[in-house]
Amino acid sequence: MDFVTCTLVLLLTCASVHALSLLLSRIIAKPNYNLPPGPSPIPIIGNLLELGEKPHKSLAKLAKIHGPLMSLKLGQITTIVISSATMAKEVLQTNDQFLSNRNVPQSVSVLNHDHYSLAFLPISPLWKELRKICNTQLFSHKSLDSSQDVRCKKMQQFLNDIHQSSQIGEAIDIGTSVFKTTINFLSNTIFSMDLISSNGAAGEFKDLVTDITKLAGTPNVADFFPLLKMLDPQGIKRRQTKNVRKILDIFEDLINQRLKIREGTGVYNNKDMLDAMLNISKENEFMDKNIIQRLSHDLFVAGTDTTTSTLEWAMTELIRNPEIMKKAKKELEQIIGRGVPVEESNISKLPYLEATIKETLRLHPPVPFLLPRKAERDVEICGYSIPKDAQILVNVWTICRDPTLWENPSLFSPERFLGSEIEFKGRNFELVPFGGGRRICPGLQLANRMLMLMLGSLVNSFDWELVDGMKFEDINMDDKFGITLQKAQPLRIVPLKLK
Ligand code: HEM
Ligand SMILES: *[C@@H]1O[C@H](CO)[C@@H](O)[C@H](O)[C@H]1NC(C)=O
Ligand SMILES: *[C@@H]1O[C@H](CO)[C@@H](O)[C@H](O)[C@H]1NC(C)=O
Repeated sequence: MDFVTCTLVLLLTCASVHALSLLLSRIIAKPNYNLPPGPSPIPIIGNLLELGEKPHKSLAKLAKIHGPLMSLKLGQITTIVISSATMAKEVLQTNDQFLSNRNVPQSVSVLNHDHYSLAFLPISPLWKELRKICNTQLFSHKSLDSSQDVRCKKMQQFLNDIHQSSQIGEAIDIGTSVFKTTINFLSNTIFSMDLISSNGAAGEFKDLVTDITKLAGTPNVADFFPLLKMLDPQGIKRRQTKNVRKILDIFEDLINQRLKIREGTGVYNNKDMLDAMLNISKENEFMDKNIIQRLSHDLFVAGTDTTTSTLEWAMTELIRNPEIMKKAKKELEQIIGRGVPVEESNISKLPYLEATIKETLRLHPPVPFLLPRKAERDVEICGYSIPKDAQILVNVWTICRDPTLWENPSLFSPERFLGSEIEFKGRNFELVPFGGGRRICPGLQLANRMLMLMLGSLVNSFDWELVDGMKFEDINMDDKFGITLQKAQPLRIVPLKLK
């Protein structure tokens, strides 16, 4: 059954239960919360049907009526929607302490993943340990610097593949190619190996990661009506359990192989993330094999779709805006040299490219509501109460298009960031595509390096043209809502040798 059918069936069968509960609610008085304003919910399903196909847009519209701090009822779940930079600051900074737990969807709780997952644990000693290790070891500048050569090598392979396509005038699906490359960037950073061979034979890993993200982003009736969790009406839990089992098994094999190598007299150079984690496990007992598998799962799932979708949008915007493409090319030519691949040590010298990535993340924030947060206890914001256990969605998509913050908000213009202090590191609340506060994306620095490396190299090494004489005005700019906001129609472009 699809989501809407499920919801409607549910509506009918529950109508009678509702009559009963109304009766009961008159007898048992509820606490009198002063919830933020919002649309009135209909019985049982609340405001669920108002979400539509594109919740980021529907909720943006509702916020125009009800304000930047809005409350809704999504099924049984009280949901607070944040739609301005000021309110985002209230959630991500001022009241961060009590608003930083996660709402856990059923697709995440399979195999108890939420008990081990960096991304979905509540604030807890284990979560703090994992964050500390990310910040001080896995994603520190020092370790990212020491793994940059493997990413550079992968980038070179990617460029070779494109070069082959350019020789036969073949179009490439930029999303698919970047997806593969991103997985290999991550798998080489973590495990020093490719998880996808460039001829595409090892498609299983890619399909796993794709399916896990897809299921995590599929609206699930059971998330809105916790009573239905047992029934798994859309089969999401069943499918996700299989996927997660498989991916954890793949990681387990890799860990076992590495342990064998480390036991022997290793010629091994001991410098990837897996080695860092195994080193930690010798001193710190919480870092066991299970946690390493779980953390690897989270890094791949959180890092792949987000990075890929950003790059696909960036290329789309550059192709649609030839003047901007020209400027980006010119900067690269002057600073790096025409056709020379970009390296990570170069990225601080490319302000226009950096601005292009910021502008892409502004117009197409890959995680439009951040990861759903949950209130640990009652919190008061601007005189309204956010009740304990309410889900909190920060609508980054609408904040990034707020006309009171951004001039000409729907215009793609990297220039707006030149000479501006605005960054996406969680301190400027008008631009928080990576979130903020203590839950801010720990992969931010790696993401930025991968994006600069790929975009810079793609732009500097080739000219690009659309397929079949298509004009750039005709590019379909529609987006598709999921846990990440992707391009609805894949961008297909033809690489040309630089003239
Ligand atoms: C363009 C790329 C990326 C974007 C836009 C992005 C965005 C986000 C966002 C919005 C959150 C939630 C923040 C919040 O709740 O305030 C998040 C969390 C997270 N991200 Fe990223 N991310 C990206 C790339 C990556 C990469 C490359 C990795 C790692 C390899 C990664 C790992 C994580 C993890 C583990 C979390 C959960 C952190 C926690 O809950 O404590 N992300 N990311
Ligand atoms: C792991 O420990 C070994 C031996 O102490 C050390 O040489 C290596 O650099 C460490 N690796 C990482 C990634 O920290
Ligand atoms: C780019 O990085 C490479 C490798 O580190 C270096 O040789 C080159 O000089 C850098 N170019 C610029 C302009 O920084």
